[in-house]
Amino acid sequence: MSVTVRVPAKVNVQLAVGAARPDGFHDLANVFLAVGLYDEVTVTPADELRVTCEGPDAGQVPLDGTNLAARAAIALAARRAIEPAVHLHIAKDIPVAGGMAGGSADGAGALLACDTLWGTGASRAELLSICAELGSDVPFSLVGGAALGVGRGERLTALETGGTFHWVFAMAGRGLSTPAVFREFDRLAEGRDIPAPVAAPDLLEALAKGDADALAATVSNDLQPAALSLFPELAATLDAGRAAGALAALVSGSGPTTAFLVRDPDSGAEVAEALRASGTCRTVRTATAPAPGASVVAPAPTPA
Ligand code: C5P
Repeated sequence: MSVTVRVPAKVNVQLAVGAARPDGFHDLANVFLAVGLYDEVTVTPADELRVTCEGPDAGQVPLDGTNLAARAAIALAARRAIEPAVHLHIAKDIPVAGGMAGGSADGAGALLACDTLWGTGASRAELLSICAELGSDVPFSLVGGAALGVGRGERLTALETGGTFHWVFAMAGRGLSTPAVFREFDRLAEGRDIPAPVAAPDLLEALAKGDADALAATVSNDLQPAALSLFPELAATLDAGRAAGALAALVSGSGPTTAFLVRDPDSGAEVAEALRASGTCRTVRTATAPAPGASVVAPAPTPA
């Protein structure tokens, strides 16, 4: 018997970053939106813990104990005093080191899959607390939809969305390390007063109304200057998407994936084609948001 869980990627429509805290993390006002690009994590009983991965970026995924899927299985097993004797297989469609929470998705997916396989019956609160131990973005990968994350980004409040948002994503030729981008943020911020991060009321209203134009006018990412500083070629990708009619162009999270909000699928197809033709990125994908959080897809769950 095995269990498969599907988990979405995310884009941050607002990423407000405060000053570095004594623990090295940064307080955030992080408005997450789950988008319809998915990894699938399948867990099967095995003699010992093993991780495998398939997909175009599979070669860049660590298969050892640092993989968040492995860490999730170990964390849940430790709480139940059982062995994490499972094979975790990741079908990876979310870009690796791309700023779309692909690693976090695998952590949340493995946790839900192991909980289901082992029948551990963990409450939502316990799953969320394990997610928060695994990483700042992991709780959001579990819940999906749209949410405001504060603290490190792990303390979530669900947000209303009044409609479907259409996105185009341009994947870059190499990844960016999230800690390196935060360090560059600190370097660029040196000597400046960093205000406490707060969610923008206009942006929350645009999300609640499902108003793409209003959302485009309010999206922001405080990590974008740091990502561009480490990866200056991203400016050309952002320009290519804007020139093709995107309502908004921004770096996704810590990057280097760039995200383009578009009005409708037709405009998305045009922006995607222009980005492909621009030669400024590796691959281009379209997706809609919000997407559901981690969910068991096989075996099909029995209705409640
Ligand atoms: O929580 P997570 O392990 O995903 O964070 C990866 C790295 O990103 C941290 O080690 C830290 O350098 C940086 N980070 C941060 N502030 C946050 C979240 C992440 O500085 N709120």
